[in-house]
Amino acid sequence: MRGDVNRPRHIAIIMDGNGRWAKKRGLPRTAGHAVGAETFRTIATHCKNIGIEYLTVFAFSTENWKRSDEEVATIMTLLEKYLLEAIDSMAENKIQLRFFGDLTPLSAKLRTLCQETQGISETYESELQVNICLNYGGRDEILNAVRACASDCLEGKIKPEEIDHECFTKHLYSADIPDPDLVIRPSGEVRVSNFLLWQSAYAEYFYTDTLWPDFTASELNHIINEFSKRQRRFGGI
Ligand code: FPP
Repeated sequence: MRGDVNRPRHIAIIMDGNGRWAKKRGLPRTAGHAVGAETFRTIATHCKNIGIEYLTVFAFSTENWKRSDEEVATIMTLLEKYLLEAIDSMAENKIQLRFFGDLTPLSAKLRTLCQETQGISETYESELQVNICLNYGGRDEILNAVRACASDCLEGKIKPEEIDHECFTKHLYSADIPDPDLVIRPSGEVRVSNFLLWQSAYAEYFYTDTLWPDFTASELNHIINEFSKRQRRFGGI
């Protein structure tokens, strides 16, 4: 399936609707995140099976710290659980893991797990690279890249007029991977929410009312099929 121009190489997903999924069932919001984490597993495996090369998911934004301590702790515990399980199976599953975001405010345990899984990932060839956005914000990412370019100028490595797309994007978390072709947002919200602001300049957006815990591989297939019918012009005619 790879190499087909109508097939996305890189899919990005805002995993939204976990809280509403739980509320509809009279369950605590945290139950929605637990099912959402399972959906993530299913979708990542499916992406690998159908030859998607990159999957980027929004797991925790720079603004999500405003949620209750209990909810934040649950999301962090789910991430820890996933990473602990992933460590044993990543090489066999041919999935590499990377993290986009500022990991410094995370617990030492979670940070170590992120570093460990990222380190292991670098030791083998994978079929799918999964990027987990964790304490991530698109504007922060752009500001960090601006600061890095400014430092390069001050150190005389580059002149301001030489700053171009290529040297700017080297300072983004996504430095060495292609931009997302397709961004999916479940749960009926039609917003970008600070997700991959630079990288999604020419992405095709798909919104669905399905809440993330109910999202399935077959809905993803349907979206990929719709994507293949869109005419991407990248600003041309
Ligand atoms: C958005 O739904 C979801 C989150 C802020 C957390 C996403 C986290 C997971 C799916 C679990 C851990 C992830 C991995 C990769 C193992 P919401 O809570 O904003 O839902 P709502 O809009 O219905 O309230």
